[in-house]
Amino acid sequence: MSRPTISRCADPEEVAQRAAEVLAMTIDAARTVHGESHVALSGGSTVGRAYELLGPLLPEWSDVHLWYGDERCVPHDDPESTHLLATTELDAPGAVWHPVPTELGCDAAAAAYAKEIEGVRLDVALQGMGPDGHTASLFPGFEHVRASGTCVAVHHSPKPPPDRVTLTLDVLNTARRILLVVTGADKAPMLARVIDGPDPAVPASLLARDHLEIIADEAALGG
Ligand code: 6PG
Repeated sequence: MSRPTISRCADPEEVAQRAAEVLAMTIDAARTVHGESHVALSGGSTVGRAYELLGPLLPEWSDVHLWYGDERCVPHDDPESTHLLATTELDAPGAVWHPVPTELGCDAAAAAYAKEIEGVRLDVALQGMGPDGHTASLFPGFEHVRASGTCVAVHHSPKPPPDRVTLTLDVLNTARRILLVVTGADKAPMLARVIDGPDPAVPASLLARDHLEIIADEAALGG
């Protein structure tokens, strides 16, 4: 079984720096090779600083398509919106943003996003992980963790807000590169399980290990 690459960082700031550097390098390389680059962003508290550091690392963002691995089904001006977080923190002049059309309602937004992203191969997916081992909005014990297709609606999310849209593992795992950023001691037990191997009870452990880089601080790696 292949093992993910582990980048051990001293603290959350170093995690953000490493994530920003890898994202910038991957985006620029993909654009050079393919003429464009497709990136899936995540929400939560860990990724904001990475977005802030990432913006200045690329002088211009033409032909870079910014998607979402998941989104909360709230208006784009709601403080819980991942699109609000990303567009606030990430200065990406010339980028093509692909917000989830949450104004349609959760189920219709998932269907519309699936159509929009159909046929796109992600160059990189930036993922966070919750203390329960979820990633994107793929939560332990939920049947959509194994959903086929491209994008699904999630209701009753254990992490508020309750209604979300998430790309499926199938789509996330077709990304050429997956980054999983994890900080904090509260996530250490679950991160250890992710590193140990794939476990259906731990959605983050089902990310494709042969092209996964875990970027974590000492606290999350157990010191
Ligand atoms: C979300 C995310 C989710 C997040 C993890 C980690 O919408 O909340 O996409 O998967 O990345 O829950 O969140 P923290 O970085 O806040 O711990």
